Amino acid sequence: MPGTVVVGAQWGDEGKGKVIDLLAERADVVVRFQGGNNAGHTIIHAGETWKFHLIPSGILYPGRTCVIGNGVVVDPAVLCSEIDDLRARGVDVGGLKLSANAHLIMPYHLLLDMEGEHKLGKNLIGTTKRGIGPAYADKAARLGIRVQDMLDERILKKKIAAALEPKRQQLRPFSREIDLQAMTEEYLTYGHRLEQHIADTSALAWRALDEDKHVLFEGAQGALLDIDHGTYPFVTSSNPVAGAAAVGAGVGPRDISEVWGVTKAYATRVGAGPFPSELEDEAGEEIRQKGAEFGTTTGRARRTGWLDVVALRYAARLNSLSALAVTKLDVLSGFDTIKVCTRYRGTKDQDFVTDTFPYHQSVLHHAKGEYESLPGWSEDLSEIRAEADLPQAARDYLAYVEAAVGVPIVLIGVGPGREQIIWTE
Ligand code: GTP
Repeated sequence: MPGTVVVGAQWGDEGKGKVIDLLAERADVVVRFQGGNNAGHTIIHAGETWKFHLIPSGILYPGRTCVIGNGVVVDPAVLCSEIDDLRARGVDVGGLKLSANAHLIMPYHLLLDMEGEHKLGKNLIGTTKRGIGPAYADKAARLGIRVQDMLDERILKKKIAAALEPKRQQLRPFSREIDLQAMTEEYLTYGHRLEQHIADTSALAWRALDEDKHVLFEGAQGALLDIDHGTYPFVTSSNPVAGAAAVGAGVGPRDISEVWGVTKAYATRVGAGPFPSELEDEAGEEIRQKGAEFGTTTGRARRTGWLDVVALRYAARLNSLSALAVTKLDVLSGFDTIKVCTRYRGTKDQDFVTDTFPYHQSVLHHAKGEYESLPGWSEDLSEIRAEADLPQAARDYLAYVEAAVGVPIVLIGVGPGREQIIWTE
């Protein structure tokens, strides 16, 4: 703190939710800066389970200002129902602020997303089909509809008509579902509902930082899903790396003083795309079952593998990580041997060995992990709260990872509960 970013250092789902929840308790302002309702943090707070898709989980702490920044794409229907659900459970959402410059997910974005994935056939990217990619595409094409547009009927209708125009051909199969007037009215209604939350959130974040308040920038997805630096095209449509926190919240890079990267003690990936340390055997299944590796939002089974320090070092560099939080160490209890992917070797006609993350897609697609084997441990870790009480093999494993990545481990997760953590000395 004061400006701390928390990002995923792998392919998303690292357990950022819990780390963010712990830091949010000490923050004054929590800002989401990219992605949309494809993110799904699960938090166990005061014994209750909460799932967040758009609203920063900091909302559970009274008095926090929780911001949905300009870099987020917002489905207002999802946001309104998330607000309703929180209210119904007795949470005060008065501190929620929504950037007037954030782009909106429109009904046609959802239709285009479904249509797009369908056409890709076997090269399915595995999007969550929530319209996020098409909304970011419209933003880049200067055809986006922004939160502020929901407050003016004339402007809203004009902009929707302009956005629909170049999509006529693609949307032809759905022509009965697209009604300009009905869509305008629906979004005006959302505008009225959300008006009290709409704000100049860039100025709000700047003011907080200027007053030396603690601002937490909450990342979604992970570095290897970054649209510029990830395993393109099997990536998300935004930048989940730390640099995007400045852009997506509307502050300058010098306002960020710390960057925490969250990684599991092993690796997972959802959807298609390269995954050099993937396990397609019993060990992979054991990790999936023990780690409950099924998507929060979609329920999809995640691909699993050993921890990949080649990819982690890459994430550390891209994000200029100052700290690592290692979650789900408890899941590795019971393995005789734990492997760590330290190099990639080429398969088929690709002949290479490398310990740096390949920039070339063909190289990466043929990269297979090579491993160091470390002794495992059998003890249950879930009740351990001090690093010194961890089995020696678990401490050795963490020390190995820390040295291989070159970033200090500050936090270790030993269970889903909020208190199931170890702060390192
Ligand atoms: P995205 O933003 O979508 O990438 O999600 P996320 O990084 O917030 O991960 P998410 O909260 O969806 O998934 C983490 C899951 O692991 C949740 O069910 C957590 O309760 C659980 N979890 C977090 N930390 C630990 C841990 O240390 N051990 C175990 N066993 N479970 C954990």
